[in-house]
Amino acid sequence: MDDNPAFTAYAPNITPGSRVVRWTDEELVRALREGLRPDGTLIGPPMPFALYRGLSDDDVQSIVAYLRSVPAVDGQQPESVYNIPLPHAYGTPVESVAHPEAGVTLEYGSYLAGPVAHCMECHTPHGPQGPILDTHAGAGGFEFRGPWGVSVAPNLTPHPEDGIARYSDEELKAMITQGVHPDGKQMMPPMPYAYLAKMTPEDLDAIILYLRSLKPLPLHE
Ligand code: HEC
Repeated sequence: MDDNPAFTAYAPNITPGSRVVRWTDEELVRALREGLRPDGTLIGPPMPFALYRGLSDDDVQSIVAYLRSVPAVDGQQPESVYNIPLPHAYGTPVESVAHPEAGVTLEYGSYLAGPVAHCMECHTPHGPQGPILDTHAGAGGFEFRGPWGVSVAPNLTPHPEDGIARYSDEELKAMITQGVHPDGKQMMPPMPYAYLAKMTPEDLDAIILYLRSLKPLPLHE
C-alpha cells in the first residue's frame, strides 16, 4: 500500500485466477503500456506508465507470458482511492515499439533505466502528472515512507556536488547491485538492488553510461 494525501493505492492480485489475468493478452498489453483497463477506466499511480509506454513489443509480451506462469494466490485487495483527478489518458495509444539492440550504448542504457528497471521513475521528482522527465530527469528528491522510515531517492545526474560525478563506476555498481554505499552504509528500501543484482555486466555498464550522460542537475528538494 502506498499511503499519501493524494491517494491510497492497493496493488491488486495479478496471479492467474485474479480479475487481471482473465484479460486477454492484448488487454493486458494495453493495461501495462497505456494504463487502460478493458472497461476503459484508467489505472492510477504509482504505476509508472510514463515509462512503461516505451516497453518493446517483445518485452511487454514476455511480461504477460510470465504473469500467466506464476502460481495462483487467493485474495482480492480493496479498491484504490484517488483524491486527485486522474488524466483521461497517459498519452496517445501505443502501436508498436521496436526492441532496441542490446549493447553498451546510450540508447540501450536509456531503455534499461527507463521502461525496464524504471530507475527514472523513482529518481525523478514528481509533479501532478508523475515524474517530470522532460526537465528534471534523474534529479532525485522523491520521498518514500514505509516501515523503514523515510528514504529519499538520491540525485542520479552527473552533478559534481550531490550527483553521481562523485562516484567511480565500481562504487556505482556496488550501490546499484548490492545497496552498499562507498562509506559502507547499507541502503534502505525501496531501492531494488536485490533484483538489479541479476543484471548482466553489459546492462549495468549501459545504465551507467546513460546516467553519466544526463544533464547535471542539483538534487531536487
Ligand atoms: C522503487 C524505487 C527505486 C527504483 C526503481 C530505483 N531506485 Fe535507486 N534508490 C532508491 C532510493 C529510495 C534510494 C536511497 C536509499 C537510501 O537512502 O538508503 C536509492 C539509491 C540509489 C543510489 C545511491 C546514490 C547515492 O548517491 O547515495 C543509486 C546509485 C541508485 N539508487 C541507482 C539506481 C539505478 C541505476 C536504478 C535502476 C537500475 C535504481 N536506482 C532504481 C529508489 C529506487
